Amino acid sequence: MDMNVFAPRHMDIGSGASSRIVAMLARLGVTRPLIVTDPIMVSLGLIDRIIEPLDQAGIGYHVFSETVPEPVDTIIETGIRFAAGLDIDGIIAFGGGSPIDTAKAINILRGAGQGVPIRDFKVPYVADHAALPLIAIPTTAGTGSEATRFTVITDTATDEKMLIAGLGALPVAAIVDFELSMSVPPRTTADTGIDAFTHALEAFVSRRANLVSDGYARIALRLIGPHLRTVYREPDNRAAREAMMLGATMAGLAFSNASVALVHGMSRPIGAHFHVPHGMSNAMLLPAVTRYSLNAALPRYAEAARLAGFAPESDADQLAGARLLEQLDSINHDLGVPNPHAFGIGRDSWDERLPVMAAQALASGSPANNPRVPDTAAILDIYAQIHR
Ligand SMILES: [Fe+2]
Repeated sequence: MDMNVFAPRHMDIGSGASSRIVAMLARLGVTRPLIVTDPIMVSLGLIDRIIEPLDQAGIGYHVFSETVPEPVDTIIETGIRFAAGLDIDGIIAFGGGSPIDTAKAINILRGAGQGVPIRDFKVPYVADHAALPLIAIPTTAGTGSEATRFTVITDTATDEKMLIAGLGALPVAAIVDFELSMSVPPRTTADTGIDAFTHALEAFVSRRANLVSDGYARIALRLIGPHLRTVYREPDNRAAREAMMLGATMAGLAFSNASVALVHGMSRPIGAHFHVPHGMSNAMLLPAVTRYSLNAALPRYAEAARLAGFAPESDADQLAGARLLEQLDSINHDLGVPNPHAFGIGRDSWDERLPVMAAQALASGSPANNPRVPDTAAILDIYAQIHR
């Protein structure tokens, strides 16, 4: 079997790992980092977990904290201008998926020279080059962006969430410290947790799955399945937070090596057109897309259900697959996931955008990785089904 395997060079994983930022920088030879984060990390003081060790070590740094949720091209350009005159030799991306994706895009664009728009790098372009070593430190569990060769940036001119893929987007190193996720609010915990579960499941059923991505996906499903509801209900449950954080990183490794599929392909346009958080738009789609895809990869979906603890080992595939569908509906209920209607999206504006959304979903390439490959009509049908 031929495989291309992608992973960060080093991952420091564990409770309090973020306090070891200085050792990580030394190992990579970074002495003048730019920290890319969001305003909440600064106002909550979470950023102090890495700034204090840097201060104590006498390491100078700059902080760009203007990143926004679901990052847009204009913020990437702001970041490029911020960094333009700085003498920096590395980037620390600190926060949820949005600051990490923003840092990746800044790093890719900075390596490309002046005046090149970020849309020039979207798939099928292969973004293998970036300017500086990037260390990702996630605070949510999570997008898995710390371990992937992808970044997703919205083109504000076209309302398109662009997928940018390549080694330039793959962090050189990651620090995975679940302590940083302990104070994440329930809604974000739910949305990012379902995103991580979706990564694991889509990587496991992807047409591009391989032995290595399967290994990561199996670990991720085992870690995430039993803890997804727990972290939402019991935010202080350290064991559950730890399992979810590691599970999210493993899921990131899984989909970085197998790609995501139809859920993500259809989810990005919902996020871009209606400003639904990424994990929540995945959750809106996950039951319907899984129902559509189930019989095209029944043994895989059934194994995923058993790994996640949704079905006993003794269940035959058909029954385990049915239990998976039941559980996906019930997880959405338990985690308070709204459908598009309940989110406040009117049926008329939904229907009006559907042709563009379907075209953007197909153009992203992700639907082609799905076990059952949809045409435009199938995608339109699923979009129509979920707006109830
Ligand atoms: Fe995702």
